[in-house]
Amino acid sequence: MVRETRLHPDDLIAPLFVREGIDEPQPIRSLPGQFQHSRASLRTEVHRLRELGIPAVVLFGVPQHKDATGSEAWNPDGIVQRALSDLRDDHGDELVLIADLCVDEYTDHGHCGVLDDGGQPDNDATLELYEQIAVTQATAGADIVAPSGMMDGQVFAIREALDDSGFDQVAILAYAAKYATALYGPFRDAVDVTITGGGHRRGYQQDVANAREAMEEIREDLAEGADLVMVKPALPYLDVISRARAELDVPIAAYHVSGEYAMVHAAAEKGWLELEAVALEHVGAIRRAGADLILTYFADLIARLIQE
Ligand code: PBG
Repeated sequence: MVRETRLHPDDLIAPLFVREGIDEPQPIRSLPGQFQHSRASLRTEVHRLRELGIPAVVLFGVPQHKDATGSEAWNPDGIVQRALSDLRDDHGDELVLIADLCVDEYTDHGHCGVLDDGGQPDNDATLELYEQIAVTQATAGADIVAPSGMMDGQVFAIREALDDSGFDQVAILAYAAKYATALYGPFRDAVDVTITGGGHRRGYQQDVANAREAMEEIREDLAEGADLVMVKPALPYLDVISRARAELDVPIAAYHVSGEYAMVHAAAEKGWLELEAVALEHVGAIRRAGADLILTYFADLIARLIQE
């Protein structure tokens, strides 16, 4: 009766991977219980999640062919575009369809942008690619696009491109405060990404030591037209979530990322932690800190547990 916060399936967004050119779902080694889905198995999985009351999914694509610019990301017949239209056909307006918008899953070098002559992401050239991705994802049925590449000006560029193509109703969930964390490792297994040359994303993602800068990033994205903003990862950045909640009145999402999920599984496998209790505590803490929406690989487990 005196509980201050409660989890509800409506708070949850399930991240899902769909891979081109496979017939059977492929288990992801470092994300137990998660799969690279085929188009068919993705449809089955989303039906199951909807039955559990989960209202939204965010899709990541793994293309068969990667290249220097990540051109499969804006192919109208690309894997994510096809999966979006499958799910739109299956669920009509009963599912919130979110598309991650980035090129790192599609480039052969693994960076979130096209590279300049010095081998670094070229911010402004990348924006043009993001604009095309946004329009093809919206055309395929996305309700929300979620730019995750941390290029400066990406929200403004995408907003303009969507509006110019008649998609003024498609919303933007900005990965606004996205840290250059060591916790994305298992995700890179999930999308077959290795950043070439031992590269990293510290040039465009945020320094893990900075909290004030996160607020600046969030405010900039809102000024550029973001409808919802995200803090990512979640648990090590509860201070940022709670500060954002205190200072802003917009919907705040938090991404409980692959490494956060994998740690709990690894410890549970050893018999050192109780998986279900820790999952509920972790996701509940993210809610308590002030997140309205939580992207988590535990979405299906949490939805089952809170219905019991
Ligand atoms: C980039 C992207 C990443 C994640 C979501 N979008 C990886 C990265 O920035 O390297 C990570 C999500 C997770 O770890 O669960 N497109």
